[in-house]
Order: sequence, then C-alpha cells, then structure tokens
Amino acid sequence: MLEKLDEIQSSALQALYSVMDEESLQSWRVTHTGRSSALMQVFSGLGQLSKEERPLVGQKANQVKLALEAAFNEHSQVIQKAALKRSLEGEHLDVSLPGRPLRGGHLHPATQTLRRILGILAEMGFQVYTSSEVETDEYNFQNLNFPPDHPAREMQDSFYVEAGERGDNPVLLRTHTSPGQIRAMRAAAATDPNNPPPIRIALPGMCFRYEQITARSEVQFNQVEGLAVGRSITFSDLKGTLNDFARRMFGQNARTRFRAQHFPFTEPSAEMDVECFVCGGKGCPVCKQSGWLEILGCGMVHPLVLQNGGYDPLRYTGFAFGMGPERQAMLRYKIEDIRYFWGNDVRFLEQF
Ligand code: PHE
Repeated sequence: MLEKLDEIQSSALQALYSVMDEESLQSWRVTHTGRSSALMQVFSGLGQLSKEERPLVGQKANQVKLALEAAFNEHSQVIQKAALKRSLEGEHLDVSLPGRPLRGGHLHPATQTLRRILGILAEMGFQVYTSSEVETDEYNFQNLNFPPDHPAREMQDSFYVEAGERGDNPVLLRTHTSPGQIRAMRAAAATDPNNPPPIRIALPGMCFRYEQITARSEVQFNQVEGLAVGRSITFSDLKGTLNDFARRMFGQNARTRFRAQHFPFTEPSAEMDVECFVCGGKGCPVCKQSGWLEILGCGMVHPLVLQNGGYDPLRYTGFAFGMGPERQAMLRYKIEDIRYFWGNDVRFLEQF
C-alpha cells in the first residue's frame, strides 16, 4: 500500500509538470486529487485495513495529499506568471512613443458667418427670435402681401409639404425668414393688443427654394432677417443701422450704397451693396467689374404687414432687412461655388 502511494505521488507529479495551461491544470486537479482519484480511493479504503497498517497508510496518504497540493499551488503560479509574461509581450506598449494628434473639429463656415452676423446685431440691440422652418402659405406669402399671382408662389419656387391638401393654405418649407416677422409681431402684440411693445429682433435660420442647384443657387441656405418696429422709425434709421452693420462686419472703411428694389412686404424697398472688398471698388471678377457687392434686401415694413402683425400702421412704423450668411462667406473667402457649403467635403470645410 505504501509503495502504491509513492507510485500515485510520482505519476501525479510527472503528469503535473507537463501541464502548461490553466485549463489542463484544473483537469489535473480533478484527476489526481478529486473524489474518484486513486489517492482518494486509498483514503476511503482505510477502514478495510488492519489496525497496524491503518495509521501508517493514513499518515502516508496525508503526506502525499499535502505534497500534491503544494506542487499544484507552485505549478499554478508558474503557469500564471508565464501567461502574464506572454500577454505583456503580446500587447507590447511603448509609453514613450509620441501621441497621435487628435483632429479638432470646428464650426461650419456658414455657422461661423451666421454667428458673426448675430453677434454684431446683438451688440446693436437685436434679440434673436427663431421660428419654424415649416410654414403655411398664409405666413410665408399671404400675410407678407404677396399677390396671389406672384411668381415666387409658383410650385417651382417652393417645397410643398402637403400639396393640395389644405386648399389655398398649403404647408411648405419657408422660402425666406420673413414669415418670422409676422410671428414675432403677433407674439409681441398679444402681450398688449392696444399698445403693442416695440420690437428689435434678428431672425436666423434655414430657408428652402425649389430651384435648380448650380454654382450660384442652392435649394437650402441660411438667412438672417432683421426687424425693428416702433413709433416714428424712419428710413434714415434703416440706413444708419445697416451702414453701422456693414462697418462692423466688413471694416471701418466699408462704403455702402442703396439701390431701389421691390419686395411685396416692404415699401419703399432697397438693396444694399458694399464696396467690393476684394478690389476696393476698382472692379474685379468677384464684383463683376462693378466695384459693388449686393449683400441684402431691405425696406420699410409695408402697412398691410404691420396690420397683419397686430400693429396699427397709423401709429407704428418699422424697417426690415434680410441677408444671406453663405453669400457673405462666399464674398469674404472668395468661394466660387455655393454647392461646397452642403457638399460635406472636409477638404473644403477644413479651410475655415
Ligand atoms: N425676404 C427677402 C428675400 O428673401 C429679403 C428681405 C427681407 C427684403 C426683409 C426686405 C426686407 O429675398
């Protein structure tokens, strides 16, 4: 019996040293020290032994058991160390290597220009007022005094959302930010219908027109609308405000000129040009040799529009203007094709 225990021990140890991984280590443990192992069978057979033999064999069996447990623990540490070493070598990490630079993002050039415009208008006392990109014909056209047969109302100019479903007031994507004028006036007038408060707001946002996409025209673009309504606001206030804006936007020496224009919702109406900042007014390809760049439409709010907004045109006057940030960015950065703005080409966007 004692010899058999020696044999159990030596064959178990021999088996143990050929074990190289955690999984076979566990199965070694079951085979050699588990319940049905040869060693455990010796323990359970102790009862059948003679009185003299029993203590000797019992003692020896315990020694073997302790030896195997000790060998198991030792070998298990060897295997763990080897596994750690292998994984450290496999996932070699050189902490002294320089880091890879992270590419920082930045605002889209259209957003940058939009924010610059809003920043300047904010300094001049215009509060930002936003309104929906989805409008009704009533707000986008009717309340702004567009006659029923105005060319801008035709299908080719507007994206209709529910064409034909709402009779003469279809839902469409706003073609300009001017419907926000009516919404802002009505919201202000609702606070005190008999004495509506004065208004001075900037209305930014995306506009949509159903047009052929070319280098000069896109189906979507931003606008910033300005609106001031109050007592005895005059065309001089409009000119002074826009001249001041141009100097803040394009530099202290920026020269401007106003040309007569027509918009249904302003009377009189004008367009403002700034002296070409590429050639300084001498004439170049950017200003098409004219020396001037058109940057916005403007005018005195039409009496019918004031009335539609809840302001009595006999007591109130106002001015409005509308400009395009992308157009200004194109002029400023000499971007030749408006399609770059929404083309999502990072090589273009990265330059700003
Ligand atoms: N809404 C006009 C356009 O989109 C611009 C404009 C705004 C003109 C306000 C006058 C007053 O062209």
